[in-house]
Amino acid sequence: MNIKLNAVSKAYGQGGAQFWALQDANVTAASGDFIAIVGPSGSGKSTLLHILGCLDKPTTGEVTVDGQSISNLPDRQMSRIRRDQIGFVFQQYFLNQSMTALQNVLLPLQLAGVREGKKKAAAALNTVGLESKLDSYPAELSGGEQQRVAIARALANDPDIVLADEPTGSLDSKTGKTVLDMLIALNEDSALGVVMVTHDEAVAERAHEKIHILDGRINE
Ligand SMILES: Nc1ncnc2c1ncn2[C@@H]1O[C@H](COP(=O)(O)OP(=O)(O)O)[C@@H](O)[C@H]1O
Ligand SMILES: [Mg+2]
Repeated sequence: MNIKLNAVSKAYGQGGAQFWALQDANVTAASGDFIAIVGPSGSGKSTLLHILGCLDKPTTGEVTVDGQSISNLPDRQMSRIRRDQIGFVFQQYFLNQSMTALQNVLLPLQLAGVREGKKKAAAALNTVGLESKLDSYPAELSGGEQQRVAIARALANDPDIVLADEPTGSLDSKTGKTVLDMLIALNEDSALGVVMVTHDEAVAERAHEKIHILDGRINE
């Protein structure tokens, strides 16, 4: 799978209040890639990631998925691409507090009508080393473990690319390194594409490719 941004810009607001959060971005992300998006707070990192993930459409420019433009794609097909091919991980883990680890990972699979969801959810939790925590609730897990549940949820439907927005941002450096190592191992072992937002240069050093962004513009 590949996602391509051609001269993509994104504006928020209207008229005089219009603000260009991303300007003229040319980016390609594909299966097997490991890309870090680096820049200060407010520079447009999340905006870029949301457009890469087909969560949002650009104001100008074109996004293609496997060569096909998504400009005129109905929302239903956009959500199918997200559901079947892309995984998302956020700084806040966004786990359902009243569900166990297994139930959290299982939920999107059930919503997508995936068969053998329970088996897949358990396998994903096994991949992130949480096979002994299937029945634990988020409150019973450490921050690093909660983020690993979120990663398992992102992986459970076997996506081609995972988009992670500051996945280690809420973790102490040691735990953050564990989570990062996990993403790197997934990239190396299964050719999973990883696109990760970070403002930590040391974290970015471990990616194959770095995209520096400042005031909505990518440093070529
Ligand atoms: N939904 C929105 N409406 C208006 N402005 C937004 C919205 N989302 C982001 N912005 C603005 O766009 C800029 C880039 O935001 P963002 O992509 O979240 O940056 P980063 O992730 O690098 O911190 C910021 O100035 C932010 O305030
Ligand atoms: Mg952000």
